[in-house]
Amino acid sequence: MQEELEEYILSHIDAEGKVLSDLNRATHLYHLRPRMCSGHLQGRMLKMFVRMIRPQRILELGTFTGYSALCLAEGLADDSCEVHTIEIDDELEDFIKSHFALSPLANRITLHIGDAREVLATINGDFDLVFIDANKREYCEYYNLVFDRVRPGGFIIADNTLWDGKVVEWGKKLDAQTAGILQFNDMVATDERVEKVIVPIRDGLTIIHKKCD
Ligand SMILES: C[S@@+](CC[C@H](N)C(=O)[O-])C[C@H]1O[C@@H](n2cnc3c(N)ncnc32)[C@H](O)[C@@H]1O
Repeated sequence: MQEELEEYILSHIDAEGKVLSDLNRATHLYHLRPRMCSGHLQGRMLKMFVRMIRPQRILELGTFTGYSALCLAEGLADDSCEVHTIEIDDELEDFIKSHFALSPLANRITLHIGDAREVLATINGDFDLVFIDANKREYCEYYNLVFDRVRPGGFIIADNTLWDGKVVEWGKKLDAQTAGILQFNDMVATDERVEKVIVPIRDGLTIIHKKCD
């Protein structure tokens, strides 16, 4: 998006608040690939989705520094609702926990450290919303693993589904991550159990609604 337009949008939407802006800053100062952090616009979008869907239980695959988990938690109706978030990189654990501790919403979030594909089996119950934002090579696996854990009428949101425009760069040699995203997009497109739309915000968000019948 044009920088000027993005600045305009950011000055006309809700502020992210101090906890999140400090977290965003610390992510950029202390971590490799800080662009993975959802950031102001996508963070407000995630919160708005939660307001609209009104989930009781959310699952996130791929915590990174915890920015999106906090945004999802912000949108929840009250403290009886919860976010479970899974991160494979145990070196991030202390950083994530120290920032969650600065938020009044920390009690709504449970952080699980490990491979989402294994950790999922250790978390009981179904989810109203799943946010897929971990390894792009594994999106199809995540989708198949979580599908039966999403209640009928629930939602899956997948991030980075336009993958910096690489999904339409035909002819170039495919790297594994682009191949993973292409395979995921094709799988969702042909899955008749769901309704889906790709929103071209940031790096592409696919919103998937699991039909009730
Ligand atoms: C794009 S970042 C997540 C960004 C975060 N959701 C946000 O919006 O701020 C992806 C994260 O997924 C983690 N990850 C990769 N493979 C994973 C797996 N199999 N299980 C859990 N986490 C994984 C990575 O270590 C990385 O921190």
